[in-house]
Amino acid sequence: MNAQRLAVARDLVEHVLERFHEAHRRDLPRIVALARDVEAGAGPAGFAAPFAALAEALEMHMFKEEMRLFPMMEQGGNSLIVRLIDDMQAEHGLHGDEIAHIEALLQALPAAGAGSALASLRTAWTGFLADLAEHTQLEDERLFPMFRH
Ligand SMILES: [Fe+2]
Ligand SMILES: [Fe+2]
Repeated sequence: MNAQRLAVARDLVEHVLERFHEAHRRDLPRIVALARDVEAGAGPAGFAAPFAALAEALEMHMFKEEMRLFPMMEQGGNSLIVRLIDDMQAEHGLHGDEIAHIEALLQALPAAGAGSALASLRTAWTGFLADLAEHTQLEDERLFPMFRH
């Protein structure tokens, strides 16, 4: 990879870290806490568990990117990187499955009259989903393809 492309890749990595990884780490604990408030109020039992599972899965995923993939990218890539990129993209797909499950749970709850925790949860969740979609799209469509050759 030439120096100019490497500089672009490094800028993208930095942007991902500052704009998205930091945002998820800020937003997810609050989302999990709100889901627990909803569960403790109107229920249903087990409602908060998939939110906590997604938060944990995303933290592990971001940790792998930060500890393994992004450092490799910042060095310009190597022969192992494509396999790691495949793993990360597979995890993006798994997160999508977990999100679809959570969306179904949210849709099954009443739209109104269920308390302010649910309203706050819906707002925070919608914001998080928009960030995650942008984050995943940037990695899948711009950053990762730079190292597939
Ligand atoms: Fe990421
Ligand atoms: Fe990712």
